[in-house]
Amino acid sequence: LSRKLSSSACINQSIKNVVVIGGGLMGSGIAQVAAQSGQNVTIVDLDRKVVEKAQNAINTSLQRVAKKLFKDDLAKADKFLTNSMSRLMLSTNPEEAVGQSDLVVEAIVEKLRIKQNLFKTLDTVAPTHTIFASNTSSLPIGEIAEATQRKDRFVGLHFFNPVPVMKLLEVIRIPETSDDTYNRVMDWGKSVGKQTVTCKDTPGFIVNRLLVPYMMESVRLLERGDATARDIDTAMKLGAGYPMGPFELLDYVGLDTSKFIIEGWAEKFPENPLFKPVPTLNRLVEEGKLGMKTGEGFYKYQ
Ligand code: CAA
Ligand code: NAD
Repeated sequence: LSRKLSSSACINQSIKNVVVIGGGLMGSGIAQVAAQSGQNVTIVDLDRKVVEKAQNAINTSLQRVAKKLFKDDLAKADKFLTNSMSRLMLSTNPEEAVGQSDLVVEAIVEKLRIKQNLFKTLDTVAPTHTIFASNTSSLPIGEIAEATQRKDRFVGLHFFNPVPVMKLLEVIRIPETSDDTYNRVMDWGKSVGKQTVTCKDTPGFIVNRLLVPYMMESVRLLERGDATARDIDTAMKLGAGYPMGPFELLDYVGLDTSKFIIEGWAEKFPENPLFKPVPTLNRLVEEGKLGMKTGEGFYKYQ
């Protein structure tokens, strides 16, 4: 009964305190948009160095945003930057961090067991009203939520890279997600400046169900020797109007994350030719070439 009461008492309570677990490419972007929208944000990662790197990345990105928003007013741009940064806290202790949270957004490595373990632990320490969300690219939200006793307060919140620029947020409901939770995260998505779309808990949701097979098919085209990576990228940019070619995009997303996505689907849906593993991707990841984040993937970056 007490759980029911505190759960219904949270109706209309707005989301003010956000905890983002994982301070990599996505976590730092998610933390940034929440902080720049006036929310208190704690960013959590495994060690101090990583959270400090995230803090620096956010600072750099906020400067770009500030420049765009307040091009003729340096004082306002400065204030926006200082205020946003002042709302950002760093932590290496997820259990402690979620103590005051209204919303937890997980953006850690794309591995089901690791995400489940994290949520299982957090479920025992987070306040009852706290909503849990995963930014997973490809894993079933329902299976991640299995690790918790709060499926009614569990959703997928799928952002896009680079988060400060990409306007879309996919909101994934599982059958147990309550209307209250759904309405609150939809409002929250708008409050951080995103256009929301809703999707069922299906592999890849909307964007990745279309984008990932396209990227993988481009690697297969390369593997067959039909064209070079550079020419495939040029073709898709100039012939199809994409802002990046598929190899640039794979390097931008991260080859490790891309490999985890396709590997997971290949295991789960072995009969689907779109989800077949891609040897070149596996080789590059084995060589530590994870894309832009490590300085080399399909291309080299200085
Ligand atoms: N932070 C803040 N601002 C940024 C930024 C960042 N990290 N990156 C770019 N910007 C801003 C720039 O300041 C610039 O602003 P102005 O137009 O006002 O000058 C604007 O964005 C464009 O940036 P650039 O001029 O540097 O470069 P660009 O025009 O080539 O755009 C891009 C860069 C936005 C990344 C563009 O190339 C693009 O849209 N690429 C495709 C990205 C994409 O498809 N993302 C989805 C990946 S899939 C995914 O995320 C889902 C998954 O689960 C894997
Ligand atoms: P990333 O490798 O840049 O960052 C992941 C971070 O999580 C790392 O800093 C790592 O130290 C941290 N981490 C790992 N295990 C942790 C734990 N138990 N506790 C705390 N921190 C932990 O990866 P990313 O690209 O930011 O992806 C994160 C999630 O977002 C994945 O689920 C991915 O599928 C999803 N996603 C990625 C993209 C993309 O374009 N890269 C887009 C949308 C969604």
